[in-house]
Amino acid sequence: MNVAVPPPKENMGQPVARLEARSKVTGEARYSADFPLNNLAHGVLVTSAIAAGSIKSLDLEAARAVPGVIEIFTQENVKGLKDPKFGQGNSSSVQPFNGPKIWHDEQMLALVVANTHEAAEDAAYRLRASYDETKPSATFDSPGSQTLDAVGNTESHKEDPKLGDVEAALATAPVKIDVKYSTPTQHHNPIELFSTTASWQDDKLTIYEPSQFVYGYKNGVAEQLGVDPANVRVVSPLIGGAFGSKGPMTPRTAVVAYAARALNRPIRCVVSRMQGFTTATYRAETRHHIRMGATPDGRIVAYSHEGWEVTSRPDNYVVGGTETTSLVYAYGAVGTRVQIVKADRNTPGYMRSPPETPYMYALESAMDEMAAALKMDPVEFRRVNDTQKEPIKGRPYTSRSLMTCYDQAAEAFGWKKRNPAVGSMRDGDWLIGMGCSTAIYPTNIGPAAVRVRLSPKGEVRIETAAHEIGTGIRTVAGQMAAEPLGLDMKMVTVETGDTDFPPAPVAGGSNSTASVCSAVLVASNRIRDRLFRAAVTSNDGPLAGRNPGDLGMKGGMIVAADGASVKLADLFGQMGSGVIEEYVEHTPEGMPPESMAKLYSGQSSFKRGSQGDKIRFAFGAEFVEVRIHSRTREIRIPRIVGAFAGGRIMNPRTARSQLMGGMIWGIGAGLLEATEIDPRAARYVNRDLAEYMVAVNADVNQLEVILVPEEDHEVNEAGVKGVGELGNVGTPAAIQAAVFHATGKRIRDLPIRLDDLL
Ligand code: MOS
Repeated sequence: MNVAVPPPKENMGQPVARLEARSKVTGEARYSADFPLNNLAHGVLVTSAIAAGSIKSLDLEAARAVPGVIEIFTQENVKGLKDPKFGQGNSSSVQPFNGPKIWHDEQMLALVVANTHEAAEDAAYRLRASYDETKPSATFDSPGSQTLDAVGNTESHKEDPKLGDVEAALATAPVKIDVKYSTPTQHHNPIELFSTTASWQDDKLTIYEPSQFVYGYKNGVAEQLGVDPANVRVVSPLIGGAFGSKGPMTPRTAVVAYAARALNRPIRCVVSRMQGFTTATYRAETRHHIRMGATPDGRIVAYSHEGWEVTSRPDNYVVGGTETTSLVYAYGAVGTRVQIVKADRNTPGYMRSPPETPYMYALESAMDEMAAALKMDPVEFRRVNDTQKEPIKGRPYTSRSLMTCYDQAAEAFGWKKRNPAVGSMRDGDWLIGMGCSTAIYPTNIGPAAVRVRLSPKGEVRIETAAHEIGTGIRTVAGQMAAEPLGLDMKMVTVETGDTDFPPAPVAGGSNSTASVCSAVLVASNRIRDRLFRAAVTSNDGPLAGRNPGDLGMKGGMIVAADGASVKLADLFGQMGSGVIEEYVEHTPEGMPPESMAKLYSGQSSFKRGSQGDKIRFAFGAEFVEVRIHSRTREIRIPRIVGAFAGGRIMNPRTARSQLMGGMIWGIGAGLLEATEIDPRAARYVNRDLAEYMVAVNADVNQLEVILVPEEDHEVNEAGVKGVGELGNVGTPAAIQAAVFHATGKRIRDLPIRLDDLL
């Protein structure tokens, strides 16, 4: 794999290395479960052995007898915890300790607290529960599952996009396809385990927990415990992988905080890898039925997309990705419908590009099937249906570089050398297939606050509660200050993930760079303006009487074009300032003004890419080569080329890493990842990293990321679109298309595995 640092192109910042890189590779970096605390007790969760029914009794005797056990918390002795509110930053509306009902397999039953983790674990194994069990519904088609329209039954999917009469358009379309796809249950499996550490000092609570939204956790846990949120601090400086799983708060957090208060002792609860499959969220399995009609010259005249998604009994979670797919091409008529299927499962949740990953897989796979039906080149088929306006309401994209991405990626990939005939390309025993797909992700932006402080020595410190989930937010936020202030990145410190810092939105929906950098830019410009004003209004300084608009900053000095300058330290002296600080609250244009106040109280909201008179999306094109062994049917991916346009790229190095990581994730989704469910017990069976397969180094060969220059002044102040979730959208569909090209087999159900090709 080529690991060269990509040089910046037009409208891109410098490829600065991550500010926290050294601390991470030396092991110095401190994650949430690493904070040392005095007199720490250890909590271990006990989870249910049934998926539906209720707890009859809990036998704690043997567990209590284990030396070192301090207390066991269950529905018997946890009193007064409020139920969380689903959809307001909580993963589920159920607080399992509030009653005997079992909603899903491996639901929390007890928290065993002991002097050591080992004693707590030993006791947890000895706790016995008896149940009144009912037969669970595991998934689609299970007896007792219930199908509902997403519209009217969910909070997030309010409308099924439509345009014109899709049935009439389908009836008369000269070329048609009618196809069904499915995607499996998937779990995030961040390498950092889920954990909560809770510590009380009198009535002040501190929680250390890997979180994508510390303000949400702070307010949520305060609400459940019935305490003043001002007394709760949540700390999450670095996160070892999240992908959406650490966005909403899960029921564990409040229970651990409750237990720590009851025992007047700090407690750390690290959830096992296995329990992470049910005590946190996941991506639910989906089904799709797509019908598409086109004219012989390749214009789409009808696109019908029905989707089904599994959700839980208590909560109607839905991703509803037709909101995006219906905007992608210049369809004639559009008809969509999303339905949820309620089963006895833990509530699903956000997982990297939640709506786009499954729904774009279906759409882009259908695009390849339609291109084949039309005997058209799949790239040309997308070109014919490309549009600068979304088809449903006719709103323009602020910028859309989809075909530029296709052209640059196709060139680098060598798409011209592909023989379009199915099964025609071969290298010895290996069948070769090539496929492509569109990637798309909305540019979401939310209100964010930052504190930026400049010292006379030219040191900058940025504080934001935004989350370093591995994406490089500290680095790009630092760059957004260093640039206007003319300072070297060595002078910049960025602190994140703490409710003692100004609030930032949930690190989800690829919003962080746009949201946080917009606020940092405003703050840095204000600091510059204050310095320039001071410089020109000083009585006898070297820049007295100049026009502030003619000044700049460089290397700790205010400079004029003719070389006249004043040192920051001198200017600070003259101003009588020890530091210059700006606290900026930035609310994106068009958002309700109260959204900033709501952010402080733990409610994160976005202006979504699909909202407004003009819509904002990042695009990409991905090309995949597969090789399939003619006898064993082993599937390999020797190379992927992706070209992506995401507005201003703050840092080509971190952007490329995000996009590479996304495409690697796409290899996993295409060929490997699936949580298997035992339908009799509604139980996940491969609950570990040995049997839940993700892409590893040996699965990844050549990956090329092309950053396509794109300038967009309308998207937001920072000009940034965000690339955190773009790269994994499209990879599985490109793999599906490549497998078809190699073998003539359409494998429509992910993941595509060797046994599908026998
Ligand atoms: Mo991401 S799934 O929006 O945290």
